[in-house]
Amino acid sequence: MITVRAPATTANLGSGFDVFGAALACPADVVRVERADETTIDVTGAGGRFIPTDPEENTAGVVARELDTPAHIHIDKGVRPSSGLGSSAASAAGAAVALNELYDRGFSDEELVWAAAEGEAAVSGEAHADNVAPSILGGFTIVTDDGITQIDADLSVVACLPETVVSTRDARGVVPDSASMDDLVETVGNASTLVAGMHRDDPELVGRGLDDPVVTPARAKLIDGYDAVEEAARDAGATGVTVSGAGPSMLAVCRPETRRDVAKAMVAAFGEADVDARAYPTEIGDGAEIWR
Ligand code: HSE
Repeated sequence: MITVRAPATTANLGSGFDVFGAALACPADVVRVERADETTIDVTGAGGRFIPTDPEENTAGVVARELDTPAHIHIDKGVRPSSGLGSSAASAAGAAVALNELYDRGFSDEELVWAAAEGEAAVSGEAHADNVAPSILGGFTIVTDDGITQIDADLSVVACLPETVVSTRDARGVVPDSASMDDLVETVGNASTLVAGMHRDDPELVGRGLDDPVVTPARAKLIDGYDAVEEAARDAGATGVTVSGAGPSMLAVCRPETRRDVAKAMVAAFGEADVDARAYPTEIGDGAEIWR
């Protein structure tokens, strides 16, 4: 039996739509696998009852098929589904790392990312790797068709999860079909600033680099209280705020000493908008880890 802890992740980071991702030190899914003749799945934990246990409809089950590693897979969800925190990706990433170890397959981390992305494709219709890559590799990741670049980063963040649901389908539906040249220039500048900030572990640069004139303004409208929560986070010391993944979670970057205040301010501002929320004051963390 192999047990793996696979972290939640935040995709996009504003200016890196469908490209950037980062692992969060918490929360995480815990995936346990045992050899079996055919794959079966059971799920416990946060929102577990909403997750399909049919292996063909579950990201972890699809990964078992892709790697030809049939198993009984138990998933203990620490990452709520439809949170914008890479819930299905955490299960897929955890399963990929655990099954590779269980069957001693010897796949590289990058090969496991693409297998886990197939799991994502099965449930979302598109094979995004911007959540599975950081969940497996840890740190900050840049995913393009040509490959994956990973950077270890030491950065405090707050992920704030409201008790609401935004479907990825709706969130993708509001993404504009095109962008102006001015917006393109601004986005390239911000994304470049963000990458430099990750290299330097600099929350000011990363916070500034989160700004995105194209996708985030459209998606923010789907999140009740977004503007007030952003303002509250900035007033409490956040250096930048954006939508986490497809939402509804919001991500704030900050200095370690302001993290608790930023978290409290975000939860309070959601509360004033009549939305219950919880915050994870955390940091960019490691990738999936085998528990011995
Ligand atoms: N990059 C994706 C999006 C992440 O924002 O739609 C969610 O799968």
